[in-house]
Amino acid sequence: MIDTNILYDEFQRRFGRQGVAYSAPGRINLIGEHTDYNGGFVFPGAVEQSITLVISSNGTNKVNAYATDLQLEALFSINGPDGPSDVNMRYVYGVVREMIAAGIAVEGFDVVYGGDVPLGAGMSSSAALECCFAYALNDLFGGGRLDRMTLAKIGQATEHKYVGVMCGIMDQFASMHGRKGSLMRLDCRSGEFEYFPWNPEGYRLVLINSCVKHELVGSPYNDRRRSCERVAQLAGVETLRDCTWQQLEQLRQQLSDEDYRRARYVLGEKDRVLAVCDALQRGDYETVGQQMYLTHEGLAKDYEVSCEEIDFLVDEARRIGVTGCRIMGGGFGGCTINLLKDSLYDAFCEEVQRSYKKRFDVDCKIIPVVIGDGARRL
Ligand code: GLA
Repeated sequence: MIDTNILYDEFQRRFGRQGVAYSAPGRINLIGEHTDYNGGFVFPGAVEQSITLVISSNGTNKVNAYATDLQLEALFSINGPDGPSDVNMRYVYGVVREMIAAGIAVEGFDVVYGGDVPLGAGMSSSAALECCFAYALNDLFGGGRLDRMTLAKIGQATEHKYVGVMCGIMDQFASMHGRKGSLMRLDCRSGEFEYFPWNPEGYRLVLINSCVKHELVGSPYNDRRRSCERVAQLAGVETLRDCTWQQLEQLRQQLSDEDYRRARYVLGEKDRVLAVCDALQRGDYETVGQQMYLTHEGLAKDYEVSCEEIDFLVDEARRIGVTGCRIMGGGFGGCTINLLKDSLYDAFCEEVQRSYKKRFDVDCKIIPVVIGDGARRL
């Protein structure tokens, strides 16, 4: 998390008064990738890397925002039909509009924000941003009236309507509901979820950021979703959650090879999430790891959301003896998530950095995973 004092000072300097601070985190996901918009299960946890903002109402109908990391300023009306054109500010504008649509009497405000969720790393910096604003505006103008799931859905609606990414609910859910030390299993169809204390004795999680920036806006992410929807429709089910292997095989002749493979990945991932839940009950991390490698195979070959750099990182992880490794998040770059024995940690980090540099002449980044809390007032 970034030093909140920097934001307090910047706020004071710009607006000549004090503001209140809120924070919301990025996330990891152990398993269950691209299952959320298919009505399936996901297994995320919030991380310590967060977006933090300092805010105060300003008695007008204008938002005066400054993003410290991007050194980006924007002034826009909360009632304006179009809002700012800059993508980063569209998240802010979208949340404002969606909060108003949800019945919160949002007024103009001054705000300064920044954070340490790496952009384009698959750790959901955009969900952190949306959730931070949704939580803050709900507190400031709504007396905390909307519950966390509603706020998560406001974040998701912002992606859909103002940014054009037809994402599922996982990232915003995790950013709103995270709890220190726990992963969460969310049933994306019913919205029910459970906390799973994460104490993998003798093992740990680490992310390796390939530094290939993924960008879901305008990316084939939406195409993946459309493939799934086409198959679900032909199978006569609401989402692929309800499509069986048998149904998929029966439909095979009617499907393009691409749609078939996309659906095959999703059905496989449903099975893997259940296998991982089982293995976690037994403390069987070797099985968890094997399932992670299988997920990567599906994401790379059938879902086709990996890239050369990430495949290299996964192969390296396997070679060095990492228990489980796969691409994490939406795909097309970003991070791998690695489950490994404590005793291998130092050697793995050193070796993977060395070989990645040699192969691509790029420094990959080691990001230790610390499971943190969800959106909150500081
Ligand atoms: C992105 C989306 C999520 C989810 C993942 C893939 O992070 O925002 O909703 O679909 O990709 O699991």
